[in-house]
Amino acid sequence: MIYMADTANIEQLKKLYYYFPLAGVTTNPSILAMEKKPISEIVPRIQEIVGDGMVHFQVASETADDMLRETLKYKEHFGFGDEYYSKIPVTAEGLRAIPMIKNAGIKVTATAIFTHQQALVAAQAGADYVAPYVSRLDNISSHGIEVVEHITKTLNHFGYDCKVLAASFKTVDQVHRIVKRGCHSATINFELLEALRSHPMTDMAVAQFTKDKEGIYDIAF
Ligand code: E4P
Repeated sequence: MIYMADTANIEQLKKLYYYFPLAGVTTNPSILAMEKKPISEIVPRIQEIVGDGMVHFQVASETADDMLRETLKYKEHFGFGDEYYSKIPVTAEGLRAIPMIKNAGIKVTATAIFTHQQALVAAQAGADYVAPYVSRLDNISSHGIEVVEHITKTLNHFGYDCKVLAASFKTVDQVHRIVKRGCHSATINFELLEALRSHPMTDMAVAQFTKDKEGIYDIAF
């Protein structure tokens, strides 16, 4: 399972990277805006924490030419390596930008995906990942889990070299269900990552071990 942290909060990333087997970090302009700092300050701090893991960083531009220029600038300015993915919303301009960015040797995560066909068009354009928004679909009386399942099945069926990075989760159960339907990558916020690895029974078991070990473990280390 590929877990990514859907946050630009440095304290949250430090806590998560201490123990969680994360493959990388994803952000978007809304996530960054919550930090109230410019990207020139936040991105280097994210890079320090993530090391050689993936950074999926979204462009702010709205035209294909600008998306390409912006992506190239970030690669140079931040010294991004192979694990840099330029996040491109699947607008008409975004879809035009995807092959341009791929031709420049930079990977792409197509984002803001709400339908099966949007994902397939992005995959056909050359995206390395497509990011469907589960909760936002559920909140408009659609079915986020099913959309993720259909995209995953179709990409596998036709042998696309494109993976599904499910996004926009509000519950642990949503994460559980996309995995059961065959989706192997998810980007998840801090609170949910913490919630999905913890269980009160684990805490109770460890409390009992702590009590029972007294006077038994007598080898110094
Ligand atoms: C990640 O790529 C998405 O931008 C993000 O998961 C959206 O999450 P939200 O619907 O909670 O804002």
